[in-house]
Amino acid sequence: MATIIGIDKIGFYSPEYYLDLTDLATARQVDPAKYKIGIGQDQMAVLPADQDIVTMAANAAAQILDQADRQQIDLLIFATESGIDQSKAAALYLQELLQINHQARAFEIKEACYGATAGLQIAYDHLAAHPTSQKVLVVGADVARYGIATAGEVTQGAGAVALLITRQPRLLGLQQPTAYYSEEIMDFWRPNYRDTALADGKFSTAQYLRFLDLTWQAYRAKTGTQLTDLTAVLFHIPFTKLGLKGLRQLTTDLAAATKESYFDYFQQATGYNRQVGNLYTGSLYLSLLSLLDQQQLAAGSKIGLYSYGSGAVAEFFTAVVQPNYQQTLQVACHQQQLHQRQRLTVAEYEQFFMQTGLTDDHDFQIKRQSPHADFYFAGQTDQRRI
Ligand code: HMG
Repeated sequence: MATIIGIDKIGFYSPEYYLDLTDLATARQVDPAKYKIGIGQDQMAVLPADQDIVTMAANAAAQILDQADRQQIDLLIFATESGIDQSKAAALYLQELLQINHQARAFEIKEACYGATAGLQIAYDHLAAHPTSQKVLVVGADVARYGIATAGEVTQGAGAVALLITRQPRLLGLQQPTAYYSEEIMDFWRPNYRDTALADGKFSTAQYLRFLDLTWQAYRAKTGTQLTDLTAVLFHIPFTKLGLKGLRQLTTDLAAATKESYFDYFQQATGYNRQVGNLYTGSLYLSLLSLLDQQQLAAGSKIGLYSYGSGAVAEFFTAVVQPNYQQTLQVACHQQQLHQRQRLTVAEYEQFFMQTGLTDDHDFQIKRQSPHADFYFAGQTDQRRI
């Protein structure tokens, strides 16, 4: 049997609080249709003070890891652009919380929303290069913060996705080669002195679409793949409207009847994203989970994935759906997580927002606010996390 390397399990966690974007539109005196249709988002996850990238990542990964996984993981990659420490990798806190094997490499990587894809490709190369290695854990966890009453406010969100990468995976086999492109641009950035991102919004959307064209053309040239070889195409989703524009761009030359199924799959693939908002580096993989949870895809179907991280780096790659993949998904758990969330008023959301910004306090306690979470942040003593 040929060796396939890919995604064996996916875990997902998003905060237990959300804001309905109709409420936000009313408060900001904007037509709700702008947010729901123009931006393409319905709700956004709101981070409480007892969650951060480490606890969200632990909550996501705990869903999928059994005892054998914890023993067999020998590489743990934590992708984030919402780091909690300039020196120590969040991967080490995660390793401890999840009791993952100490004979593992554990580190943190950053390149905006592209980080988890970098992690995924490193995981692939690691397993391909080391026959005795068995499993790699890649997590992407972030908090998208632009600020109250900013243009980006409606595109905020938070959450974590955990991907277990193995040989003979049960969900998706990753294909090589892939196509990537990077170029230094100022479309979105967050200097160390800020806890909210800076974005040249319209410019950033144009770059996302430009990089899509560059990587898709490069992918086609490298592999000879046509769009019609792909059953569906998934996108990094900062907000669903931008993914939709990407899909329109890719499908311009297709006949209307052929186009339709790509747009149907796109709707399925953005269901969770519409409710959670941007979780930065996890967004593409939340879209993947959305599609897998809601569609019965035939084994062997090829899926295209477009990853984009501001700054900017993009990659286009494909993955093949594995037989009986549905048996591995925890659909009810994902849906229950979203259904049991508590709706906040705009005033409550603003209060949560202020509480989760940077603080000068070195020692503090945090009241538990996430009753369904396995892991939560309880504060700091002697500048050490609890
Ligand atoms: P804006 O000022 O709200 O833009 O900023 P707008 O006034 O052009 O409105 C947006 C859309 O709503 C337009 O549609 C309007 O026509 C429509 P479009 O022309 O785009 O098709 N609209 C309406 N539709 C229906 N009914 C109405 C109505 N009114 C208007 N009544 C912007 C939007 C995205 C720029 C802003 O939210 C922003 O700056 N967001 C943050 C940056 C961002 O998300 N960029 C995405 C690309 S970069 C990326 O993906 C990377 C990222 O994830 C970070 C990372 O890599 O780490 C961000």
